[in-house]
Amino acid sequence: MKIVKVRDYEEMSQAACKIILDKIKDKKHLVLGLATGSTPEGLYRCMIHAYKEGKISFQHIVTFNLDEYLNLDQNHPNSYHYYMKKKFFNHVDIPKKNIHLLDGMATNYIQECQQYDEKIRRAGNIDIQVLGLGVNGHIGFNEPGTSFISRTHVVHLDPTTRKTNSKFFRDIQDVPKKAITMGIANIMESKEILLLVSGKKKELALARLINGEISEQFPASILKKHQNVTIIADCAALSKMCKENGN
Ligand code: GLP
Repeated sequence: MKIVKVRDYEEMSQAACKIILDKIKDKKHLVLGLATGSTPEGLYRCMIHAYKEGKISFQHIVTFNLDEYLNLDQNHPNSYHYYMKKKFFNHVDIPKKNIHLLDGMATNYIQECQQYDEKIRRAGNIDIQVLGLGVNGHIGFNEPGTSFISRTHVVHLDPTTRKTNSKFFRDIQDVPKKAITMGIANIMESKEILLLVSGKKKELALARLINGEISEQFPASILKKHQNVTIIADCAALSKMCKENGN
């Protein structure tokens, strides 16, 4: 895993943005895996800015989002469909047909999961997957204990995840108890992975990822086995390592 140290959230977002825009310039039909949460918001702002300045077009890229809550309508302000439209898709030129998100309202979840796996496979797998890091080590919504060979599946959200994500909801009771997520195997099949980590609240999780052992109890640890992972982390998340280097 390559670790890129940056000063703060803004620098992390800019660095991630540059990597992705360069990839799109290299490969017009890039298959981009996208994440939600607070972490990638700055990245989306940066990509929108580049588009508005005429520096990039997203017309040919194909996207796959990592996850979605179960039983939240696509227009619900807390659904990841809504998040992606509001924070990225509505502001750029990506055609609707190139956007893939899991349907949290599907009538048949098994079928929804299988079809998503199949769509990723048919797209030739993900070229670059953006990931955030859960405080409990989750990636996507793959909670501690998830099998490393899992594919797209339905999950019961960890109480810590529901508590953390309740900041986006009116009340913790409103946070769905289940979600649907790409599996660890899907993520590991991405050709390249970009893990973004910012803030002191992620310090312990990041330290465990870097120094700890590979275990299904800490899902992100599997990334150590991937050939091409870049972690872009700010000083707050990396505090000890930053101090050692005088940053
Ligand atoms: C959420 C999402 C993940 C995200 C992570 C970190 O629950 N399902 O895809 O990467 O947890 O969230 P945040 O960026 O808000 O810290």
